[in-house]
Amino acid sequence: MKFAELIRLVRSSEPRDRILLRQTLHGLPIIRSVLARIQRLKARFTQRSPDDYVRMQKSTYEAFAAADHVEPGLIDGDFVVGSWRQHDEWEDFGTYLMKYVPPGNSWTAIEYGCGPGRNIRRWTDSFARIDGVDISATNLQNARTFLEGQILRAKMPNLFLTDGMDCGEAPKAAYDFAFSTICLQHICVYDVRFSILRSLFECLRPGGRLSIQMGFGVPSPQTVPYRANFVQAAATNRGCDVAIASPDEVGGDLAAIGFTDFECWIRPTGPGDYHPNWIFFTGVKPLTPAVINAPQA
Ligand SMILES: C[S@@+](CC[C@H](N)C(=O)[O-])C[C@H]1O[C@@H](n2cnc3c(N)ncnc32)[C@H](O)[C@@H]1O
Repeated sequence: MKFAELIRLVRSSEPRDRILLRQTLHGLPIIRSVLARIQRLKARFTQRSPDDYVRMQKSTYEAFAAADHVEPGLIDGDFVVGSWRQHDEWEDFGTYLMKYVPPGNSWTAIEYGCGPGRNIRRWTDSFARIDGVDISATNLQNARTFLEGQILRAKMPNLFLTDGMDCGEAPKAAYDFAFSTICLQHICVYDVRFSILRSLFECLRPGGRLSIQMGFGVPSPQTVPYRANFVQAAATNRGCDVAIASPDEVGGDLAAIGFTDFECWIRPTGPGDYHPNWIFFTGVKPLTPAVINAPQA
């Protein structure tokens, strides 16, 4: 990079330039190790709890979302999703994530970590409506822009901002289907993920289904073990992920929350990811005893 360009980046307050500057500096080994040490020290002193961790996530995703230049049907920059077009074409999402979604579009769904609305557009034909939850207000704004003219007006989503541990103001017992892709694998704090899964359980109607994709397998670069509560992670979105060593880890959590009918599939790793494999897993929120025992009409 030319010196003049470096000076321009240093002076610029454009979100995309801030990221490019960081990437440029990280390309220089000595500076990279100094910056990494500073980041780790900062995280060590400022992140003591899951709340602190999700605050770091929020500011990171706000910066990435601000660097994306979004238009209807187009995400330029792709700092949040990464390889968004390839994800749209990855067949396993249709085969496994959407395996139990009935044909037609009778179900209403909620996506956790919806980002700029890629899945909401991709799966619009399969649902009556897909709502979205995200930690970044700018992502939600980008989703509104991205979806303009891309899906039927009647299917425009309700978008809910969260602090990172639950579904925010999304209604309870309201959804037939809750799903999430390339999101939970980036959360390296067990308590945060468990809280999110519990919140998704609450948002599902009795009989509703959860369906999730995450990275799978060990060893896996830049990850911590499943049960770790690594609140001092200095980065997110692949900066520090979680590694699932066995399907029993996620299956056990779903059972503890109250889900039944756990199933999973270990599959090849999807676009732009470093985990050895991907896992798709699903579970059902049981019908409550009150409903099961309801008198016949
Ligand atoms: C890699 S993007 C994937 C976006 C979308 N799911 C897709 O597949 O196109 C990860 C998304 O998860 C969101 N996210 C990450 N951690 C979150 C958390 N703790 N709570 C809510 N959203 C989160 C990010 O803001 C980002 O939009």
